[in-house]
Amino acid sequence: MMLEIPGILSKDAVRELRALIDAGEWVDGNETSGHQSRLAKRNAQLAEGSEMAAEAGQRVLAALSRTPRFIAAALPLKVFPPLFNRYQGGEAFGDHVDNAVRQLRGTEFRIRSDLSCTLFLAEPEDYDGGELVVQGLFGEQRVKLPAGHAILYPASSLHQVTPVTRGARVASFFWLQSMVRENEAREQLFRLDTTIQTLSAERGGTDAAVLELTNLYHNLLRRWADA
Ligand code: NI
Repeated sequence: MMLEIPGILSKDAVRELRALIDAGEWVDGNETSGHQSRLAKRNAQLAEGSEMAAEAGQRVLAALSRTPRFIAAALPLKVFPPLFNRYQGGEAFGDHVDNAVRQLRGTEFRIRSDLSCTLFLAEPEDYDGGELVVQGLFGEQRVKLPAGHAILYPASSLHQVTPVTRGARVASFFWLQSMVRENEAREQLFRLDTTIQTLSAERGGTDAAVLELTNLYHNLLRRWADA
């Protein structure tokens, strides 16, 4: 499932975050690449390890934790600290796969990457190209979202970022390990959860059918989740 998650950051929050990171040190994006991606990748990345990069990552994580749609869809167990990248002057990232396991350099922190997430930090009209293209079962999906919106997609997908031929595409990106490993199971839970929210708004949370479906949701989650 590919899912758009709007409004993770307000326009003001995007502006403040951009002011913070734009002033930072940017390095060759290949510092975090695996062998195959290195061949395909041309972009810049906010240098990791500075206090500022940590602060920027924290702001993204805090915003995600306040976004119910993100939590419901991702069921996050462990989130890799968000990184930031920038494409301009024809830069692109050709078709590649993301590593299945990510270890945070110099630490024991490691995740299985179930989901990839890109949070857009530039408005679509401010650059040409820079679409995220994800190969899925139903063909190719092309994504370019307003600043502050994110796209969540299975990390198992082949994907690319098309060349940016005008302006700059700035985004935060990260991977996460979900409590529910299988994409299919996680999608069913998300759809059930969404339906329960709708029914609950109509009938109230103590309605017998809403309670029964909520129980069913939790029992499925209990069956499938690692916590
Ligand atoms: Ni990637």
